[in-house]
Amino acid sequence: MSEGAGEYIAGLFGVEDEVLATLREEADRTGLPPISISSDEGRLLQVLLLAIGAQRVLEIGTLGGYSAIWMARAMPPSSELVSIEIDKKHAEFARRHIARAGLLDRVEVRVGRALDVLPSLDGEEFDAVFIDADKEPLPTYLDWALRLVRRGGLIIADNALWGGKVFDTTVMDDKTKAVREFNRRLSTDPRLASIIVPTHDGVAGAVVR
Ligand SMILES: C[S@@+](CC[C@H](N)C(=O)[O-])C[C@H]1O[C@@H](n2cnc3c(N)ncnc32)[C@H](O)[C@@H]1O
Repeated sequence: MSEGAGEYIAGLFGVEDEVLATLREEADRTGLPPISISSDEGRLLQVLLLAIGAQRVLEIGTLGGYSAIWMARAMPPSSELVSIEIDKKHAEFARRHIARAGLLDRVEVRVGRALDVLPSLDGEEFDAVFIDADKEPLPTYLDWALRLVRRGGLIIADNALWGGKVFDTTVMDDKTKAVREFNRRLSTDPRLASIIVPTHDGVAGAVVR
């Protein structure tokens, strides 16, 4: 991407309102890790969810609720976003800001380790899953996503480029190997039509055929 393009895109499509700006400011001030999606990625999620008319969405990795608020704003009042978060403090922070955004009616933060919470959702159907948590279990998160997302639904994951480590053949740590395996499966699984959008750290998107 040419220099300045990211700022140009964010300036047009990633403008934050007071709720999102306050969340980000409080997150920085209180030491929440600065690892939420960017505002233009928030807009990208909204475009994708609106394109499929998403009414039931699952998120793995809530943090402070920043991405959850972007997504829930693209969903109608009767919809449901279930977001899984392992850290109680992150979940409390997120609930507070989701309430400030007036979205408690459609966003539920479930506290727990994703691999423990996901089995409780077995048999349910989601329009989309957004994966943005720990990296080692990514292949297992993909198995769950394939189980839970309806045909025509979306599987989306942040950090698909993992700081460039996925294409650096000298890097062989477990997290990098898991992201590589996740991407490899997205690109080869006949049940999926997938791509990585090379924005920020890479956003992987797949439609379930
Ligand atoms: C990158 S942050 C999520 C950012 C959020 N999606 C956003 O953009 O606003 C990852 C989050 O996943 C949580 N997490 C890490 N491992 C997890 C696990 N095994 N189960 C559930 N949550 C996990 C972390 O505590 C952290 O809050």
